[in-house]
Amino acid sequence: MLFRQLFDEDSSTYTYLIADRTLKQALLVDPVLEQVEGNYQLLDELGLTLEYCLETHIHADHITGTGKLRTMTGCSVIVPENAPVTCADGFMGDKQVLKLGSIIVEAIATPGHTNSHVAYFINQKILLTGDALFIRGCGRTDFQSGDPGVLYDSVTQRLFTLPDETLVYPGHDYNGNTVSTIGEEKQSNPRFVGRDRLQFITLMNNLNLPNPKKIKEAVFANQKCGNV
Ligand code: FE2
Repeated sequence: MLFRQLFDEDSSTYTYLIADRTLKQALLVDPVLEQVEGNYQLLDELGLTLEYCLETHIHADHITGTGKLRTMTGCSVIVPENAPVTCADGFMGDKQVLKLGSIIVEAIATPGHTNSHVAYFINQKILLTGDALFIRGCGRTDFQSGDPGVLYDSVTQRLFTLPDETLVYPGHDYNGNTVSTIGEEKQSNPRFVGRDRLQFITLMNNLNLPNPKKIKEAVFANQKCGNV
């Protein structure tokens, strides 16, 4: 398996490129519109055909590159079940599996940041956590369909119950972190350690974060796969 972590500096978003080296087929998770040309060039240089673009959720902080990549490559666009999207070719619900050669992608429903968020568990080893769980943090819950209590349940009951050695690759990082493990986050994530559900809700409801600069255009555009 080929696995690459790609980064969009402007929105601090991680995009993941995963490919079966034998079949030369690839999928991208959470591509960013401004990085599409670079993604396309990388696929070309590696001799890979893009089969799928997957979204962990409908983003509010950047415009997705999935629609443009579909136009360029003919790939299929897969979004979480119940996401308010009209442009997808397919949906992934909890425990649903997508296979690409030797790559097995299992969706884990992890609502809370948005109500249709999923994490993707790759070959039972690599967990793409989207904005449910960050390295020493988590996604915010104060807009779109966010709900801190639901996020607490998703992280503690669905993600923290995976094996400790599971690699955690988040949807964003604002501090230069690249990878963690479930064991590490269970032990050291300050949003969750020592906090029960109610304390977590209080914490999340008092973060007072500014809205992402692209929220208005991004949510609207992402419901159309970035094609506006
Ligand atoms: Fe997000």
